[in-house]
Amino acid sequence: MSRFKDKVALVTGAGNGMGRSHALRLAREGATVVVADVNAADGAAVCGEITAAGGRAVFQLLDVTQEEQWKQACSRAQKDFGYIDVLVNNAGIIIYKTLLDTSTAEWEKVMAVNSTGTYLGCREVGALMKGHGGAIVNVSSVLGSVAAPGVAAYQASKGAVNMITKSAAAELVSFNIRVNSVHPGLVATPMIKDFVGDPQAVEMLLGPTLIRRLARPEEITNVVAFLASDEASYVTGAAYMVDGGFSTV
Ligand SMILES: NC(=O)c1ccc[n+]([C@@H]2O[C@H](COP(=O)([O-])OP(=O)(O)OC[C@H]3O[C@@H](n4cnc5c(N)ncnc54)[C@H](O)[C@@H]3O)[C@@H](O)[C@H]2O)c1
Repeated sequence: MSRFKDKVALVTGAGNGMGRSHALRLAREGATVVVADVNAADGAAVCGEITAAGGRAVFQLLDVTQEEQWKQACSRAQKDFGYIDVLVNNAGIIIYKTLLDTSTAEWEKVMAVNSTGTYLGCREVGALMKGHGGAIVNVSSVLGSVAAPGVAAYQASKGAVNMITKSAAAELVSFNIRVNSVHPGLVATPMIKDFVGDPQAVEMLLGPTLIRRLARPEEITNVVAFLASDEASYVTGAAYMVDGGFSTV
């Protein structure tokens, strides 16, 4: 498939986990990928994987909480490529703490990366996309819609992503920009590395998931790539649950 031929895609948190998977897939399908991450070594490694496979990628140091770094990333993309067609706001962090145990600093850190980072991405890249249209995919979580104990700040931050997505979809549609969100269930990535080796912990975390296993990053990428592509030309403001049925029951 070459759904992203002649397109430029920026993926945040692309140095690891699902972001890496999204970046590799978009590149494999023809996109020039701006691999954006706060971790330079991991980001550069993903760029290396893409170019070694014959794709096109550049690394962009980007802490999504930093407005100035978003501006730099957009200026560089505009200078080097002219525009950005696809933005995947994937970067995210989690803190495993209950509401009563979460400090204000921890709350603000999670909100800064997950919510403010997504807002800044929509705003800065949305402004760049205005002239020619584009597609934005925001990565939320099943935990942005369904309650579970022990991740209070994370849940609030992903709930914000859900509404940032819908308001951006409503406002940017007139510029031919589609904005959708993807809500993964439990995915085998470094984010949950403390649990993956422990079948009991995984079983507990799966909760009401109907498909009784962790997702592979590529299974989330399948939906991200669809929403980013022209195949989803009539899809905007939508929330795609990719959670093995977690939110069904
Ligand atoms: N793994 C899961 O089970 C799961 C489930 C639902 C949703 N999600 C969401 O999916 C997204 C990707 O998660 P993952 O599991 O691949 O995580 P991960 O921890 O494996 O990778 C996250 C990547 O984001 C980068 N990052 C962290 N803070 C950043 C910042 N401030 N600026 C730029 N990059 C930053 C990291 O360096 C890393 O490369 C996140 O938004 C996460 O909340 C994950």
